[in-house]
This record gives sequence, structure tokens and C-alpha cells, in this order.
Amino acid sequence: MCLAMTYNTLMIILGIETTCDETSAALVEWTGDAQGRILSNVVLSQIGEHAEFGGVVPEIAARAHVETLDTVIAKAMREAGLSFAALDGVAAAAGPGLIGGVIVGLTMAKAIALVHDKSLIAVNHLEAHALTARLTDGTAFPYCLFLASGGHTQILGVRGVGDYLRLGGTVDDAIGEAFDKTAKLLGLGYPGGPLVEKEATRGDPQRFALPRPMTGRRDANFSLSGLKTALRLEAEKIAPLSDGDVADLCASFQQAVGEVVMDRLRTGLRMFREQVGMPTALVCAGGVAANQAIRKVLHRVAFEVGISLVAPPPALCTDNGAMIAWAGAERLALGLTDPLDIAPRARWPLEEVTKAPARKAVQ
Ligand code: KG4
Ligand code: ZN
Repeated sequence: MCLAMTYNTLMIILGIETTCDETSAALVEWTGDAQGRILSNVVLSQIGEHAEFGGVVPEIAARAHVETLDTVIAKAMREAGLSFAALDGVAAAAGPGLIGGVIVGLTMAKAIALVHDKSLIAVNHLEAHALTARLTDGTAFPYCLFLASGGHTQILGVRGVGDYLRLGGTVDDAIGEAFDKTAKLLGLGYPGGPLVEKEATRGDPQRFALPRPMTGRRDANFSLSGLKTALRLEAEKIAPLSDGDVADLCASFQQAVGEVVMDRLRTGLRMFREQVGMPTALVCAGGVAANQAIRKVLHRVAFEVGISLVAPPPALCTDNGAMIAWAGAERLALGLTDPLDIAPRARWPLEEVTKAPARKAVQ
């Protein structure tokens, strides 16, 4: 007998995401046996409000979430054709993230759950990224996740809901952050990833001998800040920069990042096989996975191991409410709900996420 309550029937969950610069709400239907259907997924990006600062400004983000979240939720409910009475649970990202935004989303979820007498599920934002491949592709446990966004760079073993093994992570900048800082240095704008990728397509990836930090190490960690500094020094040496110089710097940077990802993922996958066994797939998530050069590397590494690459569509790889609703459904199906006084968390490592109690042996 399982200690946790289990649902096999239909459930509808509202998911709220406000940890960074996207205000999002979504409704997801759980159709039993871990099958899902997105009924609505409204994402309002704040990129325009942060662009002039070259990065996300926490106070501006929190204020924008306050101003728009109720409208975003109302739109998600309208698009799904549902009222709050139809919900089984309300899930919100309770961290990690920019604390002002997290407070806005979690408080809203608590209010809806309290007023309409629904279960509250406080979702870890990273867990939501980690479980998205199950919503989009029905990926079975255990799988290896490469999460690379503006705020996170991690290689994880995903063994089950609430059961994660951290195989590697960045010791300084996230990969997306390194792309953004490179773009800023070269005067390309924000967010930098797509702009650097575009410049790189017409540049020479061999022109600048940039370092490949951490490659060859036995652990699967990343370090990106040295690469960024090396790029700055190369740019300063040849300033003022021509259009061709900018393209060559972008291409050389992207080439270096790709080689670092390849080496670190090979190591991460080896660690996975030693510690967990054979993964069912390599799954990617986060905005950086949209980069075609990085995507090629991921395909190659997965091919070497003999597994497939699962890449959810870009709209579900980046921050969105549907992934929060889905993680909420996975947790609610295991009876994992949270009290209304649960606290928002700026820092919340995946290892600290709770999992369902182990099944009791049948006597
Ligand atoms: O997952 P995401 O939308 O938001 C969070 O950071 O949570 O990821 C955004 C990050 C930004 O740093 C952006 O520059 C990067 O992903 N990114 C890319 C590309 N598209 C987005 N990096 C490299 N190449 C891209 N094509
Ligand atoms: Zn994210």
C-alpha cells in the first residue's frame, strides 16, 4: 500500500510562474498515468522593461508581476474556459528566484487556494524545468537533464518526482548569463543569446583562441567567468571593433561554450551511468537550448551514449506557467501538498525538494 494518496483520474491545476522576468499562468489537465494536456499557457515577458539595463532588475520585475499577474491569470482561465471551482489545485513557483517576484506569485496562489478551498502546491522552479519532458514527451524516469538558462546551469539525474541527483553545475556564471554579458560587452543588446548566435553564423570560430574552462575534470562542473574575461581581453586588444571582429568574437565564444558543454555533458552522463544506471534520455531545458550550435552538441553527446535527445518546444523550455502546473500535478498525484504558511525561497537547491514517502513493503 502506498502511504501517499494517489490520483489516477482527471485533475486540473492552475500554475503560476513569477520567479524571474516572465509573468505566466497556465491550466494543465492531468489525465491519469502521468499524461498531460495544456489547456492554456499565458506568458507575459518583461524583456522590454529590462532591456535598457542589459539584464533583469529585481525591483522592476517584482513591480511588473504585481501589476499584471491578475490579468494574466484571468486570461489563462478564460482561454481554458474554466472557473476556479473547476480546479483541483493551485501551484506556484515558490523559488528559487528573485524573491520579490516569488512572493507575488506564491501569495496569489495562496489567496486563490484559500478562497476556493483548493490544494496548494509550492513548486520548486528547477523541478518544474526537470519534469517538463514528461508533460511534452512522456519521458520515463530516470533521465539526465541539462538545464541551461540565464540563471541556471546544471546537469541533473532525474530519478523520480522529488528525487534528483546533482551531477554538475556552474561555480560562477550561468551559460545564458555568459551569452548575455558577451552581448553587452560587444554592444549587441539584451537578451544576448539569440544576438550572439546570429552574429556567430557569419564569424570565424577559430580566430580567437579562447579557453575551455573545466574541461577534462573528473566532476561535471562549469565555470564561465574566465571565458568571458578572456573574450573581453581579446576585444580590448583589437578595439575599435569592426562588424567582422564582433562576428568572429561571437563565433569563437560560441565555439568555446559548445566544446565546454560537450566535455561537461560527457562527464555528467558517465557519472549518471555509474551512479544511477542507463538514462532513458538526455533532456534539455532553458533558453540556451534554443541555440542551434549547442543543440547539435547535445544531439551528438546523446548519440554517443545511444539515447535520444528530448527537447521540449522552446516555449516550454523557457519559463512558463504550464511547467509549474505540470509539476504541481505530478506532486498532487502523489499527495504532496503544502500548507498555506509555506515560505517563498530565493535559494532552494533541488536536493532539498521533498519526495513522496517510500512505499511500505506489503506484509
Ligand atoms: O530559460 P530562459 O528563458 O530564462 C531564464 O533565464 O530563466 O533563458 C534565458 C536565457 C538568456 O540568458 C538568453 O540569453 C539565453 O537563455 N538564450 C540563448 C539563446 N536564446 C536564449 N543563449 C544562447 N543562444 C540562444 N539562441
Ligand atoms: Zn527557469
